[in-house]
Amino acid sequence: MYNSRTNQDRDTRNKSPIKPLRNFNNWVKGVLIHKYVPTQSTVLDISCGKGGDLFKYHFRNIKNYVGVDIALSSLVDCINRYNENSTQFKFPMSLVHADVGRRSIESALPRGLLFDAVSCQFAVHYMFDAEEHARTLLRNVSERLKIGGKFIVTTSDAYVLVKMLRAAQGLTLKNEVFEATFHCTSEKSFPQTFGNRYDFQLVDAVDRCAEYLVPPKHFIDLAKEHNLSLVEHLNFHDFYQKYGSNQETKVNVKPELKLEGMTEDQWTAIYLYRAFVFEKIGDDTSLVQDYQFNQPSGYRKLSESDIISLK
Ligand SMILES: C[S@@+](CC[C@H](N)C(=O)[O-])C[C@H]1O[C@@H](n2cnc3c(N)ncnc32)[C@H](O)[C@@H]1O
Repeated sequence: MYNSRTNQDRDTRNKSPIKPLRNFNNWVKGVLIHKYVPTQSTVLDISCGKGGDLFKYHFRNIKNYVGVDIALSSLVDCINRYNENSTQFKFPMSLVHADVGRRSIESALPRGLLFDAVSCQFAVHYMFDAEEHARTLLRNVSERLKIGGKFIVTTSDAYVLVKMLRAAQGLTLKNEVFEATFHCTSEKSFPQTFGNRYDFQLVDAVDRCAEYLVPPKHFIDLAKEHNLSLVEHLNFHDFYQKYGSNQETKVNVKPELKLEGMTEDQWTAIYLYRAFVFEKIGDDTSLVQDYQFNQPSGYRKLSESDIISLK
């Protein structure tokens, strides 16, 4: 699905009918990166897509970036974005083509490299189709994350989706910008934790695609089992309340928050998402030592053949 969506240039993105919503989502990610990814960090971006967050990491002056995605064409777009901005980006990038819910990415990661931060933006809902896939994702997150390092996440908000579904007639939630059709029975109950599918569509962003509820409590419990302890989790509306008028965020986060043109329907679509932050706990003894890591620093031009394939 993601392989088939073309890479939009900045001009096309600027004309998007959901530009305010896109800007809002980018602002949320910008706040998370500003707050939880220290400068000079090593970053693992799981489900990095076309590299939509590369500039946010550039502004954070990171030391090293590794991106992983299941969609090869998105990784190629990510390389193009990286190479087109060669004069600005100062960090080396490596890319891995893999399904993070189905296999370990350990063998593809630069040897000895530990991460200060792991990010998974707008993708955990694809891995909650089965417990094994959610666990594999979390193992991939936790394995190389330094103690004290943060795991930052945005994903759909099952609390809100289920609340809205129960208040609606039928099994479809819909407005001018999104549509979500659930595969549950008319009782609208969800006795299982995993595999609760809904087909989701977002105008100009997500073509009809199978997603799965991510029940916050179960996600938090499962993360804990992987030594990832909850720092905070907030629905995007509450995230706005907390950080929207925060002076420090206003001055430092790029992109800035711009609400002009935000429609009620876009604001409702924003309500469907939740941000999570976890911290790696435990002792470092199981981790490969960082000092072995000795990769060239700075920008290095990439080509498609540099993508490490685990497919
Ligand atoms: C909505 S996009 C988000 C991309 C990027 N994180 C961002 O915020 O711009 C979701 C991404 O998750 C990737 N994805 C979905 N399932 C995956 C899996 N099992 N393993 C790795 N990547 C996956 C898709 O290919 C897509 O690039």
